[in-house]
Amino acid sequence: MRGVVVRGAREVAVEDVADAEIEAATDVLLRVTSTAICGTDLHIYEGRMGDVNGMLIGHEPVGVVEDVGSNVIGVRRGDRVVVPTHICCGFCAECVAGRSALCLTTHPGAAGAAYGYPGMGDYRGCQTELVRIPFADTNCLKLPGEPGDQHEHDFVMLADAFPTGFHATELARVGAGDSVAIFGAGAIGLLAGLSARLHGAGDVYVVDHVPARLDQAGAMGFEPIDFTAADPVEQIRDRLRGQRSGSAYRGEEADFGIACGIDAIGFQARSRVDPDLEDRHWVIRALADLVKPGGSIAIIGVFLDRDHGLPEGPDAHGIIPVPWGTLFKKGISIGLGRDHDLRYNRHLRDLIVAGRATPSVVVTHRLDLEQAADAFRRFDARSDGYVKVVLAP
Ligand SMILES: NC(=O)c1ccc[n+]([C@@H]2O[C@H](COP(=O)([O-])OP(=O)(O)OC[C@H]3O[C@@H](n4cnc5c(N)ncnc54)[C@H](O)[C@@H]3O)[C@@H](O)[C@H]2O)c1
Ligand SMILES: [Zn+2]
Ligand SMILES: [Zn+2]
Repeated sequence: MRGVVVRGAREVAVEDVADAEIEAATDVLLRVTSTAICGTDLHIYEGRMGDVNGMLIGHEPVGVVEDVGSNVIGVRRGDRVVVPTHICCGFCAECVAGRSALCLTTHPGAAGAAYGYPGMGDYRGCQTELVRIPFADTNCLKLPGEPGDQHEHDFVMLADAFPTGFHATELARVGAGDSVAIFGAGAIGLLAGLSARLHGAGDVYVVDHVPARLDQAGAMGFEPIDFTAADPVEQIRDRLRGQRSGSAYRGEEADFGIACGIDAIGFQARSRVDPDLEDRHWVIRALADLVKPGGSIAIIGVFLDRDHGLPEGPDAHGIIPVPWGTLFKKGISIGLGRDHDLRYNRHLRDLIVAGRATPSVVVTHRLDLEQAADAFRRFDARSDGYVKVVLAP
């Protein structure tokens, strides 16, 4: 089979690799019809997660079941399914508690496993033709329709991007009427915006600096904020002030700010002064400034405890300054971590099928798997309008 293999920093190649096979009686073999590239793949691609030369990459597949292990009960050959990025068992203490991204079974000795992801178990990636799906009864979410139908790209977003965006809004405790500020207009930030709307959010501000991504945020009905134009905190505050004229908020001046803040960027955040450089320090400060007393912050962008792209020092170990004083004084709640896909994916599928959510709105490119090297280059540059790429094996 063909697959996308990491071949060094900023280098992937589409190569012949050994066919995936059923290895345990609880596995199925998935024939992939669509497989997306994620911002997480770019952290790996840029060498920030260490040397993974030879690793098959990818963790966002949808497809059709090709073969079924002898102990699989609820999944049959020919079923159309999507599987979550975070591989889970369904029966350990964390899975039962609804925290499938911290599964205790699938990566023994650690909490959490994923496909094509360094340090998260020995699972091959999904940017390929066939994938082995462990604990298939738990991981396979059945889908209606036929491969290539109008929901193909909506359903591939169910593997990771849509539940992750939704999880961000749960961590940020978005409720009806809440104002939301999202930093990062990648697929995750945009789908966090869409999820905020599903929760009944009021104003949704999306901060970035890439024009095509800001345009996309605007097209989705969010307020785009270009952080290179002026301090984004002040830009958002100005808009809030505009809504607070007259007597409506008398006596509530100290309650000023955004109810829910979301970091959808992670450790590779760009500098506000020079976006060609990284500066992971200012976004959390901006969120702490922006969020109102009693508000919430979600950090859904990835932070690493070992960043292989930095010289030895606190930053390389994810030790970064956080304005705890401001956060404490305002009584702000913070949630962070990987998305517990299994908690949400059934509900989100049903929203898609009911026509109530169209997460494929963030997909900008569908390309042949063989074009993966070029797709990674352009997506990594955030150029040519590349926001979310779906590869077709
Ligand atoms: N927690 C999870 O389970 C989970 C799951 C999937 C992805 N992620 C992470 O979410 C993050 C976003 O993923 P994506 O696919 O949307 O990636 P992406 O790289 O396409 O999007 C990130 C966006 O942030 C913008 N950005 C960079 N610095 C910024 C700054 N200082 N202020 C505002 N915007 C800034 C970039 O221009 C880009 O548009 C990544 O870190 C990814 O690893 C987490
Ligand atoms: Zn992903
Ligand atoms: Zn488990």
